Amino acid sequence: MVKFPEKIPDSLARLLVVFLALVAAGAFVVLVVIPRPMKDVRLQWADDIKREQAKPVRYAGFHVCVECHGEIYEMKKKGYHRDLSCETCHGPAKAHTEDPDKVKPVIPAQRAFCPLCHAYNPSRPRGFPQINPVVHNPLKACASCHNPHDPKPPTTPKDCSACHGEIARTKAVSHHVMLACTTCHEVPRQHKISPRSVKPSKPQTREFCGKCHAKDARDKMAKDAPRVDLSEHGEKYVCWQCHYPHSPEVEN
Ligand code: HEC
Ligand code: HEC
Ligand code: HEC
Ligand code: HEC
Ligand code: HEC
Ligand code: HEC
Ligand code: HEC
Ligand code: HEC
Repeated sequence: MVKFPEKIPDSLARLLVVFLALVAAGAFVVLVVIPRPMKDVRLQWADDIKREQAKPVRYAGFHVCVECHGEIYEMKKKGYHRDLSCETCHGPAKAHTEDPDKVKPVIPAQRAFCPLCHAYNPSRPRGFPQINPVVHNPLKACASCHNPHDPKPPTTPKDCSACHGEIARTKAVSHHVMLACTTCHEVPRQHKISPRSVKPSKPQTREFCGKCHAKDARDKMAKDAPRVDLSEHGEKYVCWQCHYPHSPEVEN
């Protein structure tokens, strides 16, 4: 049998006192010393809201601009930059709307500004208009050719190569050098003006290439074209799964 001592030994009693004193001190710190806002999330939220509300409002929103800059507002609404807010480019302009003669917003006229969005970068969405700022009409301000409030290209390029340079340069040194782009693509005129909304056709069938390459092909360009038997040659696939149409090559 374990035998308990009659009386708590002194050393243990002292430990107990120290322990209770610590608990009391801890409770005092938590309940009294730490101020309430440091413990209560609701109070913290309320304080945060007050702090944010006290900050001065710096942005006006683009609807305010229409009052005095109606023409620019209407122009931007119809152009490629319709989804950009005025203050994306001109910076916070609340102070300007309140005292337009004294406070002027920034005008981002330097060339380095537009490439923030338009410099070529492979991580941008496919089809987003991009340029290489080093070679794209260097040394002139972007706004000298593109109106920033309606930035359509200033001229309609005549050649496919203005916009499809890589394909044009590839085809120029290929076996298809004699074929015009329009031999294989029907290109509506509107494509050169709104290339992303009006798209040219692309060949859809094996028979299309067969116009020149089938055994019995009769196209006027077919004279020099090597022939294959369409019923056997690469039968299950369309031709451009094996031959890049802008530079068809055959390994020997
Ligand atoms: C209450 C009228 C008013 C409102 C609202 C207003 N502006 Fe202006 N803004 C003016 C006036 C007046 C000028 C000076 C025109 C001038 O110098 O020919 C001006 C000039 C400008 C300029 C040219 C600054 C310069 O250095 O030449 C810019 C940019 C501009 N405003 C942007 C904005 C934007 C962005 C908004 C909306 C957030 C806006 N404004 C709202 C009246 C207004
Ligand atoms: C893509 C950036 C961009 C956006 C968005 C933009 N601006 Fe501008 N804005 C410019 C640039 C760049 C200039 C200077 C043009 C120049 O140097 O010819 C300018 C010039 C101005 C000027 C002074 C010269 C002028 O043409 O009268 C005013 C006023 C102005 N912008 C107002 C606005 C308002 C209002 C909006 C929104 C409806 C807006 N801007 C949206 C870039 C922008
Ligand atoms: C905050 C990003 C942003 C900035 C800054 C910006 N743009 Fe744009 N830009 C766009 C967007 C978004 C479009 C529309 C793309 C679309 O329609 O798919 C566009 C379209 C264009 C186009 C039309 C291209 C085409 O398809 O033919 C031109 C040109 C252009 N911007 C020039 C400029 C110029 C010049 C500036 C500087 C004054 C500028 N951009 C600043 C976002 C920006
Ligand atoms: C000397 C006039 C000129 C200047 C300066 C200029 N551009 Fe252009 N930009 C054009 C022309 C013309 C086109 C039509 C396509 C082509 O022929 O290259 C174009 C096309 C574009 C396009 C459309 C590309 C596409 O794939 O649809 C964008 C975006 C563009 N420019 C942005 C800019 C930016 C940003 C700057 C300033 C860094 C700038 N441009 C300076 C004349 C100019
Ligand atoms: C102003 C610039 C421009 C000119 C000029 C131009 N294109 Fe395009 N083209 C584009 C753009 C931008 C796209 C869309 C690219 C994307 O969505 O990634 C496109 C897409 C295409 C496509 C693909 C369509 C699809 O459904 O994928 C073909 C094919 C094409 N162009 C052929 C041509 C031919 C042929 C010419 C000359 C007769 C030509 N383009 C002239 C800019 C142009
Ligand atoms: C021999 C026929 C032929 C000729 C000539 C031709 N293309 Fe194509 N092109 C095609 C085919 C087929 C496709 C579809 C490829 C695919 O879907 O993989 C295509 C696709 C395209 C595309 C879509 C993007 C891509 O690379 O797949 C563009 C842009 C294009 N062609 C532009 C041009 C331009 C510009 C020229 C003239 C410089 C041209 N093509 C000449 C047959 C041709
Ligand atoms: C309008 C006629 C025409 C059409 C349509 C055409 N081609 Fe051709 N193709 C030619 C001619 C001509 C040559 C031979 C040029 C030369 O090398 O003398 C050729 C060569 C080739 C070669 C051989 C390349 C080599 O290394 O010898 C291949 C592969 C080829 N084309 C594939 C295609 C495919 C795929 C299509 C459909 C997208 C197509 N062609 C559509 C006229 C055409
Ligand atoms: C499965 C892949 C594949 C497909 C699909 C395919 N080809 Fe080929 N093609 C080849 C290979 C590999 C060669 C080279 C070896 C040979 O001559 O069979 C070739 C060679 C050719 C040649 C050159 C023949 C010569 O005598 O020089 C032409 C022309 C050609 N193909 C056209 C086409 C056309 C047109 C189509 C669509 C109807 C097509 N090919 C589909 C793989 C393919």
